[in-house]
Amino acid sequence: MENSLTKKEYSPEELLNDFLEIYGGEKDSVRIFASPARINIIGEHIDYNGGKVFPACINRYLYVAIRKRRDSKIFYKDVKFPLSFEFDINENFAYSKENDYANYLNGILTQLKEKGLVFDCGFEILMASNIPAGGGISSSSALECGFAFAVCETFGFDVSRTEIAKIGQMSEHRFMNTKCGIMDQFIIATGKKNFAEILDCATLEYEYVPLELGDCCFIVMNTNKVRKLSDSKYNERRAECEQGLKILQSAGIKINALCELSAEDWEKNKSLIKDEILQKRAEHCVFENQRVLKAAVALKNGDLEALGKLLNESHESLRSKYEVTGIELDTLAESAWKQDGCLGARMTGAGFGGCAIALVQKQKIDSFIENVQKAYTQKIGYSAGFFACGSGDGVHELPLISRR
Ligand code: GLA
Repeated sequence: MENSLTKKEYSPEELLNDFLEIYGGEKDSVRIFASPARINIIGEHIDYNGGKVFPACINRYLYVAIRKRRDSKIFYKDVKFPLSFEFDINENFAYSKENDYANYLNGILTQLKEKGLVFDCGFEILMASNIPAGGGISSSSALECGFAFAVCETFGFDVSRTEIAKIGQMSEHRFMNTKCGIMDQFIIATGKKNFAEILDCATLEYEYVPLELGDCCFIVMNTNKVRKLSDSKYNERRAECEQGLKILQSAGIKINALCELSAEDWEKNKSLIKDEILQKRAEHCVFENQRVLKAAVALKNGDLEALGKLLNESHESLRSKYEVTGIELDTLAESAWKQDGCLGARMTGAGFGGCAIALVQKQKIDSFIENVQKAYTQKIGYSAGFFACGSGDGVHELPLISRR
């Protein structure tokens, strides 16, 4: 069973040693950056509907070791993936299937160049990720933001953290064909240890909220059902929301995004959307947005019971109205709800597989994992992965290893 509480993680020191073994040279010439995974506490599928979301960075990182070169070549290597890539910084990059993970990176470089930033030489990188790939805690955004930040720092580009987030998002739109929202890249670029963040996706204003969970912690539960967002119904859901919005706008409702609607406005106007499916999708957005506001109040008041209930309601809405859960996530959430010491549980991220989170009393972690694992394996036929997560910092350079 993958239990990451016991599984050894790849350390930045190991990465540095491997970097020197592969590329040669001196320790002092290499810089190492850490980019975290994230959980979204609540506020799902509403970042692209002008809603508020409530994510936090967790203490699982992807590391990027980087060094400039004398020539214009670029080398990408990863300690876990067998594929390595060589390009030239002066190339015009385009998506290509065989470029695999390099597409994310080339997408970032393309955005930076389009901003008019000039690379005076190439560079070499080695990466190591402790974030399960395709697992719903945003391994891809960690890669995009970690790489973008590492490159900007290395080349002295003055690019703000908000811009880093936008560059990551655009790379995903243009190179990966996923029309994702801004939430994942934003929290990874701006997150702070021991805080969650309420992000208003319409304005990109944000507020840090202390992540004080008392005797509880979040457990990440991985369905181990890997999915690629570009192959999932993610873009379809986004299009359905756009259709619902258009119908309301055409009927004269003055809104720019579904999440601008209050619960009351929704009740008054929902019958304008005749299509049952489109109506369900929009309804999820309106009420999920309300739940985020309630969840922030609950966390600020230390009312974890109330927070837990909101998590459950969110999952239920994502299951029945937004239809992005599936049997794996439902099994995890429903078995979690039955456990002693579990205050609430829901899928996190895009859904369609990936991960769920549960708010669990620390003293109950072992029995919680054992019981949910048993129920999951019995029903699904293979095991889930579990780890209790602590909070993490947004993308940053590792000071001990840095030699500016
Ligand atoms: C993925 C996307 C985010 C967001 C979530 C669902 O993680 O990258 O922008 O839409 O799904 O909330």
